[in-house]
Amino acid sequence: MARGEISQIFDALEKIDNSVTKKDVRGECWDLRITCAYRIFRAFDIPRFRLEPANPKGVLDDLLELANYIEDFPRIDDDLRSLQGNRTGPSSRQDGVELMQYLYGLAWSQLTREQYFDATELFARRLYNSNIDISFLRGAECLDLGTGIARYALAMVQLGARHVVGIDFSMECLEEAKRRLEGSREGQHINLVHGDLYNLPDTQSQVFDFVCANGVIHHLPDPTRGLEVVFNCTRKGGKAFVFVFSKSDSPWWRSIDLMRSLAGPVPLAYAHKILRFYEVPGSKIFNMLDYSYTPIQHRFDRRWFERAVESIGFKGVQLLEGGVIHDSVLRCKLFEADRELYGITEIRYLMEK
Ligand SMILES: C[S@@+](CC[C@H](N)C(=O)[O-])C[C@H]1O[C@@H](n2cnc3c(N)ncnc32)[C@H](O)[C@@H]1O
Repeated sequence: MARGEISQIFDALEKIDNSVTKKDVRGECWDLRITCAYRIFRAFDIPRFRLEPANPKGVLDDLLELANYIEDFPRIDDDLRSLQGNRTGPSSRQDGVELMQYLYGLAWSQLTREQYFDATELFARRLYNSNIDISFLRGAECLDLGTGIARYALAMVQLGARHVVGIDFSMECLEEAKRRLEGSREGQHINLVHGDLYNLPDTQSQVFDFVCANGVIHHLPDPTRGLEVVFNCTRKGGKAFVFVFSKSDSPWWRSIDLMRSLAGPVPLAYAHKILRFYEVPGSKIFNMLDYSYTPIQHRFDRRWFERAVESIGFKGVQLLEGGVIHDSVLRCKLFEADRELYGITEIRYLMEK
């Protein structure tokens, strides 16, 4: 692939960034910002779900079309601003913890019933495709840290776990989880607990056969402390699964950073309304809100992460190299274009205590 396309993609993202800032100095044109953030995300997201190499030229064309669209957009002047002033904006709930609790309640509620139940297949395929025998889950006592709407807790039960404790500090998420699990067979094996994973009671210490932290460690203010919690809750001889974002110098993370700065001035509830108004599919609304609004979003260097879990005491730290077609580890193995456009953007590990 021509290296030139990747640098042109970086240039196009820069151009979009500058144009929006020029048109909307005060961060008041919320519709423009969220529509742009979504179109940037869409340009990168669609190729990831195709069983063929990503096409950087296609991504570039989409970004350039967007850049031109912004150029034609009227500058936000006082007239427009006074019109906007009449709009009753929902509160922005900018406080970090509160924002995250509310964000995930809202974001997870977007998943359809099928997508909710798909988590089992995703979880199982990621392990199987990495040659991992999942029989360790049969009869296991499990803990799901930052359970959200308990997708993975449900997956563990469906794959044979005897019991799962799902902990989350977002009451909104837990209520959504309860609603979804109500009356199900699986729900009887899941105990949902409202709490902060940094402050778990001693009774959770060293007792679980399997501890899962799917997508939560990278949102914590102190990720190392979060990994220590995972370790502490796992019993000796037990296993843990962790999924985190990983660092790469690709246009992908630059595009996520741009989405974050576009969405920055826009209250989350308003962004949600706009995305629904444009009939953005629920799972993509989830991704948009998740990437754009989480107050903390660490991206780890793979070596750093492996050293960190090993120094905490985990053994047999195994990167899951298989996966499903939109997993970057797999795509980077299959397609050169994806290595440059995205790189490895998330890493999943199974490890033992
Ligand atoms: C990306 S979601 C992942 C949810 C779930 N693990 C899944 O994959 O479906 C991150 C979750 O972690 C929760 N969370 C973040 N920090 C937390 C903390 N300190 N204690 C408990 N839960 C936390 C959030 O509320 C959110 O539901």
